[in-house]
This record gives sequence, C-alpha cells and structure tokens, in this order.
Amino acid sequence: MKALDGRVAIVTGASSGIGEATARRFAHEGATVVAIARRRERLEHLASECPRLTSFACDVIDHAALEQCVRQTVEQHGRIDVLVNNAGLSYYERHADSTLDHWRQTMAVNLEPYYVLAKLVAPHMIQQRYGRIVNVSSVQAIASEATVGAYAATKGAINAWTRTLAVDLAEYGILVNAVAPGCIRTEMSVINGVDETTTPDFLGWYVKRRKIPLARPGTADEVANVVLFLSSDQCAYITGHTLVVDGGLTITF
Ligand SMILES: NC(=O)c1ccc[n+]([C@@H]2O[C@H](COP(=O)([O-])OP(=O)(O)OC[C@H]3O[C@@H](n4cnc5c(N)ncnc54)[C@H](OP(=O)(O)O)[C@@H]3O)[C@@H](O)[C@H]2O)c1
Repeated sequence: MKALDGRVAIVTGASSGIGEATARRFAHEGATVVAIARRRERLEHLASECPRLTSFACDVIDHAALEQCVRQTVEQHGRIDVLVNNAGLSYYERHADSTLDHWRQTMAVNLEPYYVLAKLVAPHMIQQRYGRIVNVSSVQAIASEATVGAYAATKGAINAWTRTLAVDLAEYGILVNAVAPGCIRTEMSVINGVDETTTPDFLGWYVKRRKIPLARPGTADEVANVVLFLSSDQCAYITGHTLVVDGGLTITF
C-alpha cells in the first residue's frame, strides 16, 4: 500500500523545483496527479515519466483556466483529495524601487491562486468529507531581509490564511497546512544567472559559519517529502500548522 494510493491531487508550479519533485513523488506514491504550470513541454515531459500524471498548462492568474482544471479533474477522476498550492515567483527589489503594479502582480501569482483553487476544490472535499490542502509558503514569512517585501507579504498572508482555513474546514475532515522552505536549490535560487546557494557570500555565512546549522542548501525532494506527509493519511492530527523546512536557518541568530 502506497501513501497516496487511490488519491487524486492537483499540484501547481509542477514544471520545476519543489512542485515538480512533489508531483513526481505523488505519482510514485500511487496518486493520480494533475500538474499545473505555464511551460507545457516541461509538464508533458514529466507526464511521460510518471504514471497517472496529466498536465494542465495554464497561468495561475487565469482563474477561468483554474476553474476548468478543477471541473475537468472531477469529471475525469471523480474526486479531488489533495491540493498543493505551490506556484510562485520571487525577485529582489528595494522598497524605494518598488511599485504598486509589481506588488499587485506578486499577489496575483503568489497569493490569489491559492485562494481561488482552495475555493474551487473545497466543495468537492466537503462532499467527500476528506481533503488535504498544502500551501507552500517561505521562511521569508518568519524572518526578514530587505528586498523581498511583496514576496514576504504574500507568504505571511499564506501562513495566516492557512490557519483560518484549517479552522473553517476542520469539521469536514479537511486538513490545511503550510510548508515554509528555507534556502532550497531550484530555479528560484538562480538570480541573474547565478545560483545564490553557490556564491562566496552564501558559502561563507550560511555554510562555513553555519547560519544554516545543517550547513547546506536544501533540495526540492526534501521539501516534497514533507508535502507528501502533510498530504497523506499519515498526517491525521495536524492542521493549521506551518512546517519549516530550512535546515535550522530560522532558529539561529
Ligand atoms: N527555492 C527556494 O529557496 C524557496 C524558498 C522558500 C519558498 N519557496 C517557494 O516554493 C515554491 C516553488 O518554488 P521553487 O523553488 O520550486 O521555484 P521554481 O523552480 O522556480 O518553481 C516555480 C514554479 O511555479 C510555476 N509558476 C510561476 N509562475 C506561474 C504562473 N504565473 N502560472 C503558473 N505557474 C507558475 C513555475 O512554472 P512555469 O514557469 O512553467 O509557469 C514553476 O513550476 C514557491 O511558492 C516559492 O515561493 C522556494
């Protein structure tokens, strides 16, 4: 018996990084997976490698497409057990250089689709009296640095909203949790063509001086393992929690 045998899951941001690792892991744990992202060819490649994984290429700011995705999933598979809200963007920008348009764009990609998809899947989960919603947040919601204002605001909102949604949906057997990754080596850690987890600054402070006690960046698979746990029946008495996956980064001064 695999962890997600018979379960139907939607994973956003599944064309790379944490979302791809999660979608891959879910498929190998027996789930039927609907993988969402914009890069169609990446999703199709993933589908060719994973049993029971189908791709749904769209932009998460397209709410009509998200609605179509959920409708299609229920028509084809009869249920939705797991939603992983993961698609996101990040960038560095000082407050003085930021604009309201950029702020709104960040909300539109990182925050609003989480709400929209949860709103679309909840009626099905309520009817089933079963569901797992996992929202991918960030340590930026917990500890702060300059230049990530709008991004941090979306992640802080995700943590607060995860708690309230957990209370709201608990009576229907729906568990809602978040995962807050630290420094994870993915396409997102590549800034202007340079992987920030390989720079002398990163290696000096986070690794050599052990700002990250485990002294290395994390991997997408290590986050996917935690998302899998929170999405499975193994997670039965945890809801509204934000589980930090950061090698100890946020417990150090
Ligand atoms: N890497 C880290 O250190 C780290 C740390 C904390 C939190 N996180 C969070 O982890 C999540 C995944 O990030 P990652 O590190 O795995 O980065 P990634 O490899 O860049 O993955 C981001 C994913 O989001 C998708 N995406 C972005 N904008 C989209 C849009 N408008 N519509 C549909 N899909 C969109 C991308 O697919 P397409 O480009 O194909 O659309 C991609 O699949 C994000 O929520 C991020 O904030 C990452």
